[in-house]
Amino acid sequence: MAAKRYGPVDGKSRSGLADYHQSKDELAGLPQTVAEKIPVTNTPNIFSYKAYVFAKNPALVQRYIKATKADVGGVGGHVVAAEEVKSIIAKFVLDNNGYRGEPMFTSFIVTHTGDDVGVTGIMSEAIPMSVVDELMWDALQEGAGKAAELGLYGPGQDLVADAFTGNLRGAGPATVALPFPVRQDNASQTVLASFADKTEPMAFNYYATGAYMLPRFNTGLIIAASKMKRGYIMDIVDLDTKAQAIEAGAHPRDQKALDGKMEELAKGLQEKVIRLRSPEDLYDIEGLTRSSRFVIARIWSRDEKGEADQLGYVVSAERLHNIKTKKGFTYGGKDDPVLLAFAQGDWPAPGEITSPWASCPMVAGDCRGSHNLHILPMPINSQTSYWSGPILSAVTLSCNIHTGRIGAISDQFALGTPWDQVRKQAGELAIQFRLAHGVKQPATLHEDELEYQEGWKERRARLERQFRVAPPLTFGNGNGHHGGRTANAGRGAGRPDEID
Ligand code: 13P
Ligand code: MG
Ligand code: MG
Repeated sequence: MAAKRYGPVDGKSRSGLADYHQSKDELAGLPQTVAEKIPVTNTPNIFSYKAYVFAKNPALVQRYIKATKADVGGVGGHVVAAEEVKSIIAKFVLDNNGYRGEPMFTSFIVTHTGDDVGVTGIMSEAIPMSVVDELMWDALQEGAGKAAELGLYGPGQDLVADAFTGNLRGAGPATVALPFPVRQDNASQTVLASFADKTEPMAFNYYATGAYMLPRFNTGLIIAASKMKRGYIMDIVDLDTKAQAIEAGAHPRDQKALDGKMEELAKGLQEKVIRLRSPEDLYDIEGLTRSSRFVIARIWSRDEKGEADQLGYVVSAERLHNIKTKKGFTYGGKDDPVLLAFAQGDWPAPGEITSPWASCPMVAGDCRGSHNLHILPMPINSQTSYWSGPILSAVTLSCNIHTGRIGAISDQFALGTPWDQVRKQAGELAIQFRLAHGVKQPATLHEDELEYQEGWKERRARLERQFRVAPPLTFGNGNGHHGGRTANAGRGAGRPDEID
């Protein structure tokens, strides 16, 4: 095995915790202005590499915020990530956060949303992305090992690739990176990080087609003086490589041909993408993004000529069933997505970005990845509950782009906010919808999208064998009995020309 390119920052083999400032200790030595706090969220602890985030003259370099998310095993089924698993992942990163004597993440947090763990941190361009990806892959493997030890459900669930091959893309975990602006003045940059569990990347189309396109969700589109007034450019990705393979000529029942075509499409980590403009292409964007197949993966601000300017929104636009494993393209899962987006300035405010969720839209996913259900906006570090309903978290991070520090965090969906009302409404709608429809569509998905569908496939195949082709039962052809009336001939049966 090739030597690891990362390790302890100072080259020694010891835990790096002493080198980090932890936000949980932020008031050490300071007077506390609040004696007691009402808990409204499970605020993440921020680990910041002291020597860098407190540097007097920080280097003015290109920095990135990067978020990586994976399910490495859940408590009680797919309900929630275990604190011990998260801590083991955090420890692995702290202990191995060095690349050529520099910290890879100057600041980072480890969070969970449902059964998915997220690692979100700031890195500089001096660190090759592939090295950070390897660190993430190995840290998540450590987490999966702990999950196995604790007897959690599905240890390593999302670590789909057989081995790390130099890139997280296509390996199972969802990962996105957003380059910070490089500027001498104004070190402040607000970032919104959002994680969804028990759903799919398409769910995040609500963010993009709401906050970035429609003034009813974002007044700033009409009244802001920033670049926002020009609208945005959107890259929309076709996630369905299986459909692409069929459209390219592979027969849907010819597994070998399908696999071959899908493999060809996945080569070189290519994506099938279309670039559209908002507001000019509003109808095209709305049309494409109404289904699971097409996802707004990136949003750019626009320059004076209306062309793409700065990137400010990235979604993990991947479907795991497109990834080849030893078992073929077999993975069933909804690929719980992650989003990083800038807020303020040329971008919507945090509350504008999240506002589309107030209408409680339904998304695909839920229990067994096989239903539609209303998404529940929840504080960060929350569990799923009703069936395995889709949930969503969104936090804003105040970032210092000069030092690479995540300074403070606010939780958009904290308790004690109007989101309590949304949760109540989403809960009521969800209970009504699932109980009213049971297994029937639209509560369950079309059979092509049922994720745990082997049982249905077997049942369907058995029933298929019992079907027979026969002439339909007809009546009223003069051969009947019952005093000249045909069987069931009352109430107009078999006599469509008669009106009751
Ligand atoms: P996850 O993909 O979040 O593990 O959900 C599995 C599921 O559908 C549980 O019902
Ligand atoms: Mg799971
Ligand atoms: Mg999940």
